[in-house]
Formats: sequence, C-alpha cells, structure tokens
Amino acid sequence: MCGIVGYVGRSAGRVNTEHKALDVVLEGLRRLEYRGYDSAGIAVVADGAISSRKKSGKLSNLIAELEAHPLPDALTGIGHTRWATHGGPTDLNAHPHLSDGGKLALIHNGIIENFAELKQELVAKGVTFLSETDTEVAAALIGDIYRNQLGGDNASGGLTRAMELACQRLEGAFTLLAVHADQPDVVVAARRNSPLVVGLGEGENFLGSDVSGFIDYTRRAVELGQDQIVTITADTVAITDFFGAPAEGKEYYVNWDPASAEKGGFPSFMEKEIHDQPDAVLQTLLGRSDVDGKLTLDELRIDTELLKSVDKIIVLACGTSAYAGQVAKYAIERWCRIPTEVELSHEFRYRDPIVDANTLIVSISQSGETMDTLMAVRYAKEQGAKTVSICNTNGSTIPRESDAVLYTHAGPEIAVASTKAFLAQIAAAYLLGLYLAQLRGNKFQGEIKDILADLGKIPAKIQQILDNADAIKKLGHDMVDAKSVLFLGRHVGFPVAMEGALKLKELAYIHAEGFAAGELKHGPIALIEEGQPVFVVVPSPRGRDSLHAKVVSNIQEVRARGAKTIVIAEEGDEAVKAYAEHVIYIPETPTLLAPLLSTVPLQIFALALASAKGYDVDQPRNLAKSVTVE
Ligand code: G6P
Repeated sequence: MCGIVGYVGRSAGRVNTEHKALDVVLEGLRRLEYRGYDSAGIAVVADGAISSRKKSGKLSNLIAELEAHPLPDALTGIGHTRWATHGGPTDLNAHPHLSDGGKLALIHNGIIENFAELKQELVAKGVTFLSETDTEVAAALIGDIYRNQLGGDNASGGLTRAMELACQRLEGAFTLLAVHADQPDVVVAARRNSPLVVGLGEGENFLGSDVSGFIDYTRRAVELGQDQIVTITADTVAITDFFGAPAEGKEYYVNWDPASAEKGGFPSFMEKEIHDQPDAVLQTLLGRSDVDGKLTLDELRIDTELLKSVDKIIVLACGTSAYAGQVAKYAIERWCRIPTEVELSHEFRYRDPIVDANTLIVSISQSGETMDTLMAVRYAKEQGAKTVSICNTNGSTIPRESDAVLYTHAGPEIAVASTKAFLAQIAAAYLLGLYLAQLRGNKFQGEIKDILADLGKIPAKIQQILDNADAIKKLGHDMVDAKSVLFLGRHVGFPVAMEGALKLKELAYIHAEGFAAGELKHGPIALIEEGQPVFVVVPSPRGRDSLHAKVVSNIQEVRARGAKTIVIAEEGDEAVKAYAEHVIYIPETPTLLAPLLSTVPLQIFALALASAKGYDVDQPRNLAKSVTVE
C-alpha cells in the first residue's frame, strides 16, 4: 500500500517549464505519505546516470538526507513512500531498488507472490541482492531482460519491452515504475491489482498511486485498466497490455480542490476531517432526490429489474468501513425487508459463501483499493452476484470493477483513521437502502421523503456537536492515563461502540473494546473493576421496544461494579443523568440515523486523548490508510 509518483518534464531548452523532477516527486510523496510512511526514496535520471536516495522513517528523513546529499537537477524522476511487507523498514529495503549495474531504478507497490522462485533463478545467473524485498527481485528481472535478453536495445522497445516481458512472469499484485539511464526522458509503469493513475500535463506527464500524487500540477487524469503498461514521456502517454498490444485508458477530470487536501488551519488532518463531516454528509446527500423525495441514483447503473429480484444483500468491507456496513444493515433490513449480512471481506472469500445471481454485494471502501475487499468483490462477481461499490475515491479499482457505484462525496480523507468517510458511507448506504425500498415498493414515497428530510437535518446537528465539543475534549485530556476503555451500545449503537473503540486503539494505542450492551452479562462484565471507564451509547428514549430502558439498566449494572460511566445520550434524556459520571448530549434524531451523530463525540474523544499523549494522530504507528495487500 505504498505511495508512488513518477514524473517526466520537458527540457528547459524546449519549453519554459520550471518544474524539477525532484520537487514534483517530493510534493507528490508528501501528499501520498498517508499510504505508508516507514521509509521513502527517490531516483532521478540526470547526466546519463541514475541518482537515488532512500531513507527509513518518514518522508522528513529523506528530505534531510537530500539536503545533506543533494541530487542533481533532473527532468525525470520516480519516488516512493513505503509500508513494509517483505523486509523490515530499513534504508536498504527502502525503494528504489537498482539493477543493470545501477542503470535501472524500480519502485513497487504490492506483493510479488512468486518472488522466491524468481530470486533463485536470478541468483543462479549470478545476480546478488542487497535487500530482503520482492521489489529488488522484480528490478533484477527487468534489468536482466533489458540487458541480456534484449541486449539493451532501445530501438526494439527498450525498457517498455523489458517491463512487458517481466510482467508476463510476475504473479501477485503490483504497481511498478521504472527509469533507466539509457532512456533519460521516459518512465515506464505497469499495474496489476494495485492502483496507478496517469496525470496529463502540458509538456510534462505524471504518474501517481492516486491523483493526489499530482493534483498540484494537473486535474486531467487517465485511469488505467488491469494488466496494463504505460510509458510516459513529456509529450506522450502510450498504453499497452502486458503483451504489447495497444490499449486505451479512460480520461477524466479531477474535481478535488488541492486546498481540500490541506489541513485548513487545523493542527491535524484528522481534526480537519472531523470538522469536514457536516459537509461530507451534505455532499453525499446532495442532488440525489427530487422535491417529492424520489431518489435518482444516477451512478447506480444496474438494471432495475435485477435490483427488484435481489433476495439477499451482503455488505463487504474492512475496518471502519465494515462498521458503516453494520450500521447500514439495521436500516436496509428495516426499510427494504431484504436479509442483509455484513462480512469482513477477508473472511468472506475463504468460507465458501452462498452467493448467486440474486445476491447484491455492497462493498464499502473509502479508498476503493483495499485488497481484501477487491478480492472479495471479484470472487462474488465470479459467483454471479451483482456488485455495488460505495466508495470515496473516484476512479479507484473497486468501483471500476463493480457493476455499479455510489460515490460518497466526503472529499479526500488523508488521516489514516477514518472519520468523515465513515459518516458519508452510512449516508450513502442509507440512500441505497431507501432507493431499494422505493424500487421494490416497501415504502411509500411520502415515508421516503420524511426520512430524507431527517437525513437532511443531520449536517447541522453534527455541526452543533462540533461547536459544543469542549467537555468531550476535556474528558479526553483528563483520561490521558487510562489503560483500558470499554464501549457499550445496542442496536445501531453497537457498531458505533465498536467504531469508538477502534478509534481509540488506532490513535491512542490503549486497550479498547466495543460490546453489545446486552452481551455484557454473558462475559464482558467480568472486566469491570473500580474506576474502569465505560462509554455507553444510549438510544433515544423516543425509540422503539424499550431499548432505552434496557441500556439504562446496563449502565446501572456496570456502575454498580465500580465503572466510571460516560454516556452519549439524546438531548432531554434526563433518565441517564443519575447513573452517569458524564453525559454527552447529542441532538434529537430518529434512532436509525443516530449513528451519524453519536459517533462524532467518540471521534473527538479519541483525538483529544491521543493528542494529550503527544501521538501523531494523522499517521498512527503500524497502520496505513489504504491496505493494498491481503
Ligand atoms: C485501513 C485503514 C482504516 C480503513 C480500512 C478500510 O485499515 O486504516 O481506516 O477503515 O483500511 O479501508 P477502505 O479504504 O476500504 O475503507
């Protein structure tokens, strides 16, 4: 799940461009650092040679290295920010990796599954390796083909041809970018199962793991297909398959504002993204229904007859996105009366799931690149299921490979721990649920209109929580020494409790668990001892089936055993006051929509506690934003 950037600019003699490869690549890496940040490296082609620098640790370490040992000015360069898979995060294992006597440099995102076998073959030919990475094996393979099979002959395709022949032998997932000293104005890239986008400039062209790699320079992007190779120069972009047959990419315009990828005055991306949430939900809801509440989900191009025949929904996702799916399950089943399962993508594929042409797969992914989810979607498609992707990243792999897509419009999410994407995913899944209910006649149009009206009030209510966040921030600071925090919830509050616990684990590295409040008495209550902090997400007292009363009893049960209870409750809920150390009130809203509000204080709490500990909330240890390995 590394970040990758490539650049070719024109020589200053031919056009007045001031861009230097080093600056463009470093800027791209800065924006892509969220993809991995345990080492970084860069290679440029200048004066007929490759010059490269690489360093373990964050990008700032590489920048310091470049200051100490500058690279020559160049117009062609590649850069990499790493999340280690094969080989620890050391200087030697960092990319680029060199071959062909130092004339070829390669960077890679993904895993080459047959690297051990290829390595053996290359070692037998006398190749020596410096690192433990699969990437160095790919570099050696391409270098060997270029030099020994093609005789270093650029007239017959040179680096591009070597890349083609190498890709025919590679198994697994990879985005590869290569430069060669003999072809100083070319970057050659290949992709299988890992992301890669081309950026089209004027007299310069770009490559990136996603558009943030070049968004400062151009908004024109080209989406590449599976198993494709692209060769860029300053003026040309040539795409082929792995066998050299010409192929076409799909050009599109990136409507992200580069400024929206910045922190907007907040100390961290995460804090900014928490504050982006009213807009993220608003944008996701916008333009998808008319005044009568009739939903028209334009991007959802699946035959309506097929949608009517759906008899089971399976939501596939990982991490925070899976909790969004769990929240959505309650609403979809209630509104559409279609049995809905939520499954972690990586568990789904290996258990021989029952999927057929009447199954609707709804994948949820912020990045659209999560390998576990991509593989699960592919598997479901092979079984004949229809697939819809709820995704935040335009043109990414999962929506491209799905039959239909419903984009969340949360804007770029940079902080590794997901916040605004989560709320936008819930909103989008609700739109999908309502759309199915409309199509299948499970709800009257007036009912759908009422629910949409309630959803429309959510952004202002989130804003209200954000404007009154001091108490929860203080709580986060005051609890800086907590060793363990538990979260309880029931019904839609259960996935919210699990998401609250996940945020705390991710950001503050303390033990945190989310439980179904009803399950407490079946085991977890044994964990409660004097002073144990327990967050309880309380449903609305106006809700159904005495759920509120049951959760209030659960608060009493833990309190009686010494827990310190922090309650998230609806404004006006006086009943909880007597049993809570702290009450955080959220605005009134229908039960099914409450997660869009009750999650927010939990995000703020985790952020405040982790900040009080002095941790990097945007890039927590060991994590990556986009997990493109299985
Ligand atoms: C990683 C991130 C999580 C995210 C999960 C799923 O683990 O750290 O924040 O929820 O991947 O990512 P996706 O892009 O598929 O939503």
